[in-house]
Amino acid sequence: MSSTLLHNHLLSWPADWTAVFNRDAPLLIEIGFGGAHFLVDLAQRRPSANVLGVEISLPALDKAQRKVQTAALTNVRVLQSDARYLLQVLCTPESIAEVTINFPDPWPKARQLHRRLIDVDFLHLLATRLEPGGLLDIATDHADYALAITEALEATPYFNSRLATTFVTEDLARLRTKYEQIGLEEGRTCHYYKWVRNKTAAPQDFPTPKEFPMPHVVLHTPMDLDAIQARYGRMQTSDHDRHVSFMELFRAHGGEALFVEAYINEEPVAQRLGLVIRQREPGNYVISLHDLGFPRATAGVQLAIAHLARWLLSLHDEAKILHHNLPGEMLEVDVNHAA
Ligand SMILES: C[S@@+](CC[C@H](N)C(=O)[O-])C[C@H]1O[C@@H](n2cnc3c(N)ncnc32)[C@H](O)[C@@H]1O
Repeated sequence: MSSTLLHNHLLSWPADWTAVFNRDAPLLIEIGFGGAHFLVDLAQRRPSANVLGVEISLPALDKAQRKVQTAALTNVRVLQSDARYLLQVLCTPESIAEVTINFPDPWPKARQLHRRLIDVDFLHLLATRLEPGGLLDIATDHADYALAITEALEATPYFNSRLATTFVTEDLARLRTKYEQIGLEEGRTCHYYKWVRNKTAAPQDFPTPKEFPMPHVVLHTPMDLDAIQARYGRMQTSDHDRHVSFMELFRAHGGEALFVEAYINEEPVAQRLGLVIRQREPGNYVISLHDLGFPRATAGVQLAIAHLARWLLSLHDEAKILHHNLPGEMLEVDVNHAA
């Protein structure tokens, strides 16, 4: 894989960064790189490191890709991903050498505060993924967010400041980012945090989600597809921290299958995907995952397939399961009593 732009669906869980960069080197991550000036500068200053930029904005990724190519850099990759997903799903414990977060969105309104990236829980996740002695640099020009970051860093036991103070308000050595420039021009004070992962063990509370073999249930029911379709209504199910919402149901082209749109949320992974009820022969159905959109066969997907199977069983007294590859207990719950 040598393209600058990485595709999430081609990355394993966790990702093999040595294969992605074609070499084993310290991994430096910039979260929310925006205009990518800092990212490109970082890669130029640190040619012997693997530099990974992560952004949720597609235009930012597009721009970054072009900047990296213009600068002919081979040690940078950019990925569209939420920072939490990147850290928990794609990075193994103690695998990152440095993380930089420049001017994270401050979400200033009271009702938006929960959207802020940096809090004690996020720092705990970071602490599990940074290697011992790994570096964490954060900058913000938002006074209230700075206060919250200061409190979170001081409350968390896994990091120490590399400075004599919690933060400094000037850092002339670094390249200014776009938001830094705007903040300074508008008269705001910037806060620069330079911290290091210390030796305090961080409980590994953020496991890499597992992928399972493509789940399926084969069942018998005397009902035909029209009758099944007629009984369908939107439904939901939950199990631990997994939530499934079954949305629209469509008759698949050709008429031999039903396609159910589902949202599956199992933090930090969220998937919108299709489940299929396909008639193999009259009275004989397979419930499986459609491959549209490169879905991952997570425990949440198993839960969704199991719920659909239990719902089909609940529609007819003679319905029965012939075969499946799900954890047995998932099919035992009565669909009418599932959450
Ligand atoms: C205020 S801008 C700062 C951009 C750049 N770092 C700078 O200093 O000019 C924040 C950036 O973070 C990105 N971002 C916000 N939440 C994110 C998340 N959860 N994961 C990755 N990037 C995120 C946004 O798309 C945006 O480009």
